[in-house]
Amino acid sequence: MEHRRFLIVVLFLVEATVLIAREPAAVQAANTGSRLTLSAPVRTGGMPLQEALARRASVREFAKRPLDTRELSQLLWAAQGITHGENRRTAPSAGARYPLELYAATADGFFHYEPRGHVLQRLTEADLRPAISIIAVGQRWIAEAAAVFVFAAVSARTAQRYGEARTARYVHIEIGHAAQNLLLQAVALNLGGAPVGAFDDLQMQKALPVPKDHTIYYLVPVGHLR
Ligand SMILES: Cc1cc2nc3c(=O)[nH]c(=O)nc-3n(C[C@H](O)[C@H](O)[C@H](O)COP(=O)(O)O)c2cc1C
Repeated sequence: MEHRRFLIVVLFLVEATVLIAREPAAVQAANTGSRLTLSAPVRTGGMPLQEALARRASVREFAKRPLDTRELSQLLWAAQGITHGENRRTAPSAGARYPLELYAATADGFFHYEPRGHVLQRLTEADLRPAISIIAVGQRWIAEAAAVFVFAAVSARTAQRYGEARTARYVHIEIGHAAQNLLLQAVALNLGGAPVGAFDDLQMQKALPVPKDHTIYYLVPVGHLR
């Protein structure tokens, strides 16, 4: 039994190392820098909030169908979209510093969401979901999700106003706000998802093409219900 467990751990580490070692080159080679303008988010109607709250539950099994642009657009907007003014968003932010950066990994590549303009910037055409799933301690269901939303933060934006002591607390709270928005929006669109906090921080930072000051904190894989 012990021997079998040891073998599984070794196999997992080998698989993870191979994928991680391969990613940076793949990412650089396929960096197309293309922009995807999303459909305008829907701001009225839809499922009542209380129904979405009542139905929310972690879903880890998905149908093999990609999200359409409308669904992708709505999920990104729910998490970090601009609602009013210059930069006010669907999720609150301490001192309106907006430290969060949102990414999405799909079969078509890895994208950065730009709230201003409501556009997705493609950083690579590589499908990084399998690597993400392995780094997230081998949670295979993550690779089956149509999209894996990646929440990162630039803490310095908050630290400039609040100092180091308050910053970690505020950034963590803000990620919770934004991730819950996304999860509830998924329910309202008849999609499923679950939050993921279990992953190797260093390996995730290395495997995903995000700037060094964007610290990755949380994942939310989303897909169609089975
Ligand atoms: C901070 C945090 C980290 C989590 N990490 C994981 C994870 O790595 N993998 C996973 O399958 N679920 C994860 N979850 C989801 C919880 O397992 C789930 O919310 C809990 O079992 C309650 O079930 P429910 O979401 O269906 O109400 C996480 C939830 C939170 C709040």
